Amino acid sequence: MALNSEDILALYQQYAAQQYGGEAVSQMEHALQCAHLAERAGESDAVVLAALLHDIGHLLAAQQHAQGDAPNDKDDLHQFVALPFLRATLPESVLAPIAMHVDAKRYLVATEPSYGPQLSPASQRSLALQGGPFSEAQADAFLALPHAAEAVRLRRYDDLAKVPAAVTPDLAHYAGLLRTVATEFASGRTEA
Ligand SMILES: [Fe+2]
Ligand SMILES: [Fe+2]
Repeated sequence: MALNSEDILALYQQYAAQQYGGEAVSQMEHALQCAHLAERAGESDAVVLAALLHDIGHLLAAQQHAQGDAPNDKDDLHQFVALPFLRATLPESVLAPIAMHVDAKRYLVATEPSYGPQLSPASQRSLALQGGPFSEAQADAFLALPHAAEAVRLRRYDDLAKVPAAVTPDLAHYAGLLRTVATEFASGRTEA
């Protein structure tokens, strides 16, 4: 069930018009705003792509349940759903920040007193379902993982990428980046 670059782009074109959880933007707007924030911050290609694709699990869920929204009374584990589909196509430097973007929220809520209160209501609700703030030991363990710093930066772009009608590049702007990173990975030229 691997998704190649073209499958990924097609998935966004087909399903990204749907609303992003309880936020006032679509999945496409959220993905493009997140990638744009990462790009403007001077992030690596891998982190920009991770920002673009971090919620692809929601699109895969929408594809599987074509009627739309997943139930919001349990954790959908969307940060992990896409990994088996992407592992053959993209390097760990893209996959890890995607997998860790929910734990990055749990980390930030635990370690920055000002972080939790500025989360959107929908994000505060999902935090509870996702296990709530990390303990001190969990926060330390998280920060010691490879790609933790990238995941925390991605999380901050994620939180800001919810602005109705914000102007961003379109999906085509990032398609070349996706194809390039995938091609380099396929040829074995990518380091984890
Ligand atoms: Fe997410
Ligand atoms: Fe997100």
